[in-house]
Amino acid sequence: MSGFSSSWLSLREPYDRRARNGAVLEAVRAWAAGRSSVAVVDLACGLGSTLRGVTESLPRRQSWRLTDNDLSLLARAAGLAQPPDLTVTAVPVDLARDLEAALDGPVELITTSALLDLVSHDWLDRLVTESAARRLPVYAALSYDGLATLDPVDPLDSAVIEAVNEHQRGEKGFGPALGPAAAAAAPGRFEAIGYGVVQGASDWVFGPRDTEIQTEVLTGWAVAAREIGSIPIGDIINWLARRRDHIAAGRSSMRVGHVDFFARPIATR
Ligand SMILES: C[S@@+](CC[C@H](N)C(=O)[O-])C[C@H]1O[C@@H](n2cnc3c(N)ncnc32)[C@H](O)[C@@H]1O
Repeated sequence: MSGFSSSWLSLREPYDRRARNGAVLEAVRAWAAGRSSVAVVDLACGLGSTLRGVTESLPRRQSWRLTDNDLSLLARAAGLAQPPDLTVTAVPVDLARDLEAALDGPVELITTSALLDLVSHDWLDRLVTESAARRLPVYAALSYDGLATLDPVDPLDSAVIEAVNEHQRGEKGFGPALGPAAAAAAPGRFEAIGYGVVQGASDWVFGPRDTEIQTEVLTGWAVAAREIGSIPIGDIINWLARRRDHIAAGRSSMRVGHVDFFARPIATR
């Protein structure tokens, strides 16, 4: 168990799908154009959301190696219905320890979603180094950038979001997490070693009807803020109650900032 429940990953997938940046997916498509097949390794696949989000941008014949350290998610990801012409293998890997092994073998494209904000500066360096040494392009989607807005505005929103961002920088199994800094740091690291990078926003946009996901996200934020301890618990409870009232009344909207990028070695296809 990784702490990422299958119900949460299923709930967010359609919003992630909608948020994925079209220009970045177009850059993936342009890279793949002319290939008859492609071999992909997906890092931290969860239930396989990245596969389903990217498959239409790639040639029909695809082989996917799905990796995760949560055996239950991995088994479900491999079992979910896949489009024809796809070969899918599920490989249990602790990416904190064995990133390099996960990339070994026939791989032409690395993908990942909602992972880079969990990893440390050192782990990101390992990913950049290993990708470059193998001359592999990287599609990395949905890194949280720390910018969130809620409507209607509540006086405690910014303090809660600040606490959430501090929580994001805590240990997530890879060393001190980059959290919101990942969204800017990761494309910058690839550019610095000579990769061409296409990046763009992939914000979650939740409207008044998206009640379940708003409730989940805001409840998670309240828990994170409590763990950080900078806001009195009573204030957090009252804030959450007010936010839930807005959701129940059908007047709550949210935007949560994310960034996608595609980084490819400039000198190679
Ligand atoms: C936020 S979820 C994203 C899942 C999926 N990529 C998606 O977009 O829905 C983070 C994923 O990272 C995986 N994960 C966390 N730590 C890991 C580690 N050390 N090794 C491999 N996977 C890990 C979790 O099991 C989870 O599936």
